[in-house]
Amino acid sequence: MATLEIKGLHVEIEGKEILKGVDLTINTNEIHAIMGPNGTGKSTLAQAIMGHPRYEITSGSVTLDGEDVLEMEVDERANAGLFLAMQYPSEVAGVTNADFLRSAINAKREEGDEIPLMSFIRELDAKMDTLEMHEDMATRYLNEGFSGGEKKRNEILQLMMLKPKFAILDEIDSGLDIDALRIVSKGVNEMRGENFGCLIITHYQRLLDYITPDHVHVMMQGKVVKSGGPELAQKLEAEGYDWLQQELGIEAETAEQEA
Ligand SMILES: Nc1ncnc2c1ncn2[C@@H]1O[C@H](COP(=O)(O)OP(=O)(O)O)[C@@H](O)[C@H]1O
Ligand SMILES: [Mg+2]
Repeated sequence: MATLEIKGLHVEIEGKEILKGVDLTINTNEIHAIMGPNGTGKSTLAQAIMGHPRYEITSGSVTLDGEDVLEMEVDERANAGLFLAMQYPSEVAGVTNADFLRSAINAKREEGDEIPLMSFIRELDAKMDTLEMHEDMATRYLNEGFSGGEKKRNEILQLMMLKPKFAILDEIDSGLDIDALRIVSKGVNEMRGENFGCLIITHYQRLLDYITPDHVHVMMQGKVVKSGGPELAQKLEAEGYDWLQQELGIEAETAEQEA
C-alpha cells in the first residue's frame, strides 16, 4: 500500500492565497472525489501537487510514502508515481502519441530495461481497444488536432499505460458526451486496485455515477470543508451547495473566473 498525504497545504498565486490549509490522505486502492463550486481551488490543489511553477506553497506538506513531494522536480514527481491529467491538455507537435508513451514508460524504467517493442505494442493495442480508440490515434502527433473527447480518452490511455501509483484527474468529464464519459470511466475503473489510488476532481456528480468514489470531499474557499461517502455527492447533486454553506456558516461563493 502507498499513501499520498497532504497536510495543512497553503498555496498562493501571484500573492493571493488560494488554498488555506488543505488536509487529505489518499491510499492506494481508494478513489477520492473532490467536488465544489468554481474558483474554490480544486485545480490549484492539483497543480500544486504536480509542481506547477506558478503556484507557491507557503506552508504545509505533500508526501508520498513519507517522501517529500514538494522537494521533487516535476519529472521526479512523475517518476515517484504521480500522474496528473490536466483540465487543458496541450499539444506537442512532431511527437507521435505512441512514441511519447513509449519514452514516458521507459523514462520510469532502469536503463537497459526498456519495454520490449512488441509487448509495448500489444499492451497499447489492448488498452486502445478498451477505450474504443481509433488505431490511427497511436501514430498521430500528440494532441494535435485531437477533439476534446479524443484528448480526454488519450489521457486515460496514458494513465493506463504509465500505471502511476496516484492519479489526479482534473475535470476529465468536462465536455464529454455520455458515450465518451462511459468509456473514460471504464478506463479508470479498470485501473482500480491495490497499486492505484485516484483523486477525481469534478464539478458534477454525473461522472461519479460511472466511477463510484470511496470518499467524497467538498472544497470551498480553499479548504476541504466536508468529507463523506458517495452519498455526499448525490446530496450535492440534488440539493446544491447552499445547505452546506449554511451548515458551515460561510458566505456563498462569488462566481470567480476559471483561470
Ligand atoms: N494562474 C492564475 N493566476 C491568478 N489567479 C488564479 C490562477 N489560477 C487560478 N487562479 C484563481 O485561483 C482561484 C481558484 O482557482 P481554481 O483552483 O482554478 O479553482 P477551481 O478549479 O476550483 O475552479 C480562483 O479565484 C482563480 O481565479
Ligand atoms: Mg478547476
